Amino acid sequence: MKVAEIRSRFLKFFEKNGHAVVESSSLVPHNDPTLLFTNAGMVQFKDVFLGKDKRPYTRAASVQKCVRAGGKHNDLENVGYTARHHTFFEMLGNFSFGDYFKTDAIRFAWDFITQELQLPTDKLYVTVFREDDEAAKIWEKQIGVPKERIYRFDEKDNFWSMGETGPCGPCSEIFVDRGAAHGCGRPECAMGCDCDRFMEFWNLVFMQYNRDAEGNLHPLPKPSVDTGMGLERIASILQKTETNYEIDSFLEILQKIAGMVGQTYDPKAKDNFPYRVIADHARATTFLITDGVMPANEGRGYVLRRIIRRAIRYGKKIGLDKPFLHKVCGFVIEQMADAYPDIREKAAFISRAVQAEEEQFFKTLERGLALLDEEMAQAKASGKLSGDVAFKLYDTFGFPVDLTRVICQENGLTVDEAAFEKAMEKQKSQSRAHWKGAGEATVDHYYEDIAQELAERNVQIKFVGYDALQAHGRCLAILQRHGQEKTRLETAAMASPDVILEAVFDETPFYAESGGQAGDRGRVSGHGFEGEVIDVLKPAEGLVVVHIKPHKGMLTIGESYQQETDQQLRNLTARNHTATHMLHWALRKVLGTHVKQAGSLVTSDLLRFDFSHFQALTEAELTEIEGLINDRIFSEQEVRKDEMEKEEAVAAGAIAFFGEKYGDRVRVVRVGEFSTELCGGTHVDNTAEINLFVIAQESSIAAGVRRITAYTSQKAFEYLKSREQESRVVRNKLKAASLEDVTSKIDKLLQSERDLKKQIEKLRAQALAQQIDTILEESPMVQDTRVVTFLCPEDDQGVKTLRDLSDQILQKAPNTVVVLGMRQDSVNKAFLLVAKGKQVPTGFSSQELLQKLAPEINGRGGGKADMAQAGGDKLDGLKLALNKARDLAPAMFGKG
Ligand code: ALA
Repeated sequence: MKVAEIRSRFLKFFEKNGHAVVESSSLVPHNDPTLLFTNAGMVQFKDVFLGKDKRPYTRAASVQKCVRAGGKHNDLENVGYTARHHTFFEMLGNFSFGDYFKTDAIRFAWDFITQELQLPTDKLYVTVFREDDEAAKIWEKQIGVPKERIYRFDEKDNFWSMGETGPCGPCSEIFVDRGAAHGCGRPECAMGCDCDRFMEFWNLVFMQYNRDAEGNLHPLPKPSVDTGMGLERIASILQKTETNYEIDSFLEILQKIAGMVGQTYDPKAKDNFPYRVIADHARATTFLITDGVMPANEGRGYVLRRIIRRAIRYGKKIGLDKPFLHKVCGFVIEQMADAYPDIREKAAFISRAVQAEEEQFFKTLERGLALLDEEMAQAKASGKLSGDVAFKLYDTFGFPVDLTRVICQENGLTVDEAAFEKAMEKQKSQSRAHWKGAGEATVDHYYEDIAQELAERNVQIKFVGYDALQAHGRCLAILQRHGQEKTRLETAAMASPDVILEAVFDETPFYAESGGQAGDRGRVSGHGFEGEVIDVLKPAEGLVVVHIKPHKGMLTIGESYQQETDQQLRNLTARNHTATHMLHWALRKVLGTHVKQAGSLVTSDLLRFDFSHFQALTEAELTEIEGLINDRIFSEQEVRKDEMEKEEAVAAGAIAFFGEKYGDRVRVVRVGEFSTELCGGTHVDNTAEINLFVIAQESSIAAGVRRITAYTSQKAFEYLKSREQESRVVRNKLKAASLEDVTSKIDKLLQSERDLKKQIEKLRAQALAQQIDTILEESPMVQDTRVVTFLCPEDDQGVKTLRDLSDQILQKAPNTVVVLGMRQDSVNKAFLLVAKGKQVPTGFSSQELLQKLAPEINGRGGGKADMAQAGGDKLDGLKLALNKARDLAPAMFGKG
């Protein structure tokens, strides 16, 4: 049974059993700072389990894209070497949200594998959590699994958690005995053995608890079910393959990779792990980029970068010496696009993004080789390359240590392995910390608690700010912030100059920061209380927290307060938000549909939009984009906002990333007939309100991600005005009448500067040349050889001047050794050059003399017998070096 068929049979089976089929969510968890990547099917339902989110269904089934690299479930370093670890895989899962529990979960799983997939019952084993008598009884009495094939394990195996915090519960796993041929062969080999004989393939989690930041377990509102079966694993069982890498989907990719190096893939070969690493990592790379992750030095992008670099390094092992991974991603796209159509749409972008990263990394590798050459020269004396260097090569330049080892061997060196290991360990613990910082911050438990309580009381905060700018709302909770310290107040808060209050109201007109739009500002008043709203945030799903600087009086829980939004700021923000949608549209129109929003910021001052695109925008493109947007502003187009079903929105052509989580009723913002987006932000009613749009800046913020900063309305006018003033200042200064005049005047100035520079160089060279005879006359002769030492006056040509001068001297007097120095104070550099003429005894080596002089200027350098040069930063040492040369050189003539 092929992978594609397993996917569809699974969904059909559960659909038939009353489950809603839900699309896979994005690999980047939506609105969940506790998680780096989606690592299980339940992630998109986390809030449903917690009772904070409601869905129109209580049973669901999905095929979920997962990545387990970084974070709690991290398999990166195992991939390629084991039979079943992957960074990217697909998880089949069925879920119950307070609907069925253990009995049905077990029954559905059993029926699916024995009836649909026809797995032989006598080969199946199950496990339950140590204390879970209930589950054990269901397996035995209702399903009929013999008692001796039901095992009990402890927390390590039979208690599943999504992450350090969040939903969790005891679980029951299903195993298949693949036969002794797959086992380790030890006499004690039995269920629970780590070998490949007894293989776990389906995990049924009985979700019962929410683990908080302190590690305490709280019961979920309703017992639920979360199951997960790795698609690759079940395919391997059904296709009877030794490892996951021989199932149909993997084999195709592996064969393509082998084809790239003129081989055929041999699943049995011992050294085939590079192929597996590449295939696995190409899948992860393709899907991560599709979901908006780009290679970077931190967070999710850092993990992706490590994945790509690991693939490239393994590529080198099989002789792939040029960028190749983007091509492998191409195979992945061809193969998976039927199940995930969005990867086909983004194919060109994925290929470019990967290729760019590959090219950059290949360059880095080259630089690494240069460093290694240098370091090996230094290590000659000890015979050992330092562990820190080997680590730097690994960490910064991506050299696997065995590559470094081989190159060292060829040069008669070894690597200090112990020191290397130590540096690796240190980095591992740091990178764990790195990942933590990037995606695993825990949501402040105060907010979690409040959200939970509101959910339990069935209170939903009503946002009325789309239509109203003022509203009354009852205060439900208050946090008091004093510097970094926060306390939850039970009844009321007093105004005090150095505290900030964070209040939750049951109804509010304040827009909370989200979707890139800044939170509202405004006032809260009533019952003698007055305060200024300085921010409005949404720290947990559905929770609007109003940050108030209290001026006077008391804010009391249970009382109603008048809340007013600052209308002017709100209007300016709305202009920028609608303009952001128009910019998105214009970018896609002018640059292409690969443009995808990568982030945005909308405030009352400006709008900033990040998007995927590879080159800097040209002047012409920027002008066209501005033109398109202003045309639509001047032609006064209506802006409509409607709530509708998700399907309806898709039909209307809404741009949105449906992999992300949206409720099923969505808000659609349409600007004229040209832009349709899902958006919860506040917008103008007509584009005319935007008045004017100007782009102030276009720049790069990461490989393949560009940023545009723009202004609208008053700010746009102010911006243009200030640019005009700047250009007036320049015109006045240059006494230019027009812009053309400015350009031609600047061109002239630049040209005259270049001419002057040339002239100065010429004069300098002439002056030096004139000095040559004097220099030669004044230099001592030893035997038949002359030693010239000379400190050149500073110029910005540096070493080049030294080389020219030495050439001239040696041409005139070939029986000379020249030692020249120059200091460049402006850049704090000292240069030394040693050269010899044709008639100097062959035993003299410029390189040898230079080695003796360089330390005086704290310098490093090299060269040959004819000429050698060095640069250093100890400027005062130059004189000493030259004197030393005069003393040392003669003794070196005798040789040879
Ligand atoms: N969420 C559970 C797992 O990933 C099913 O194993």
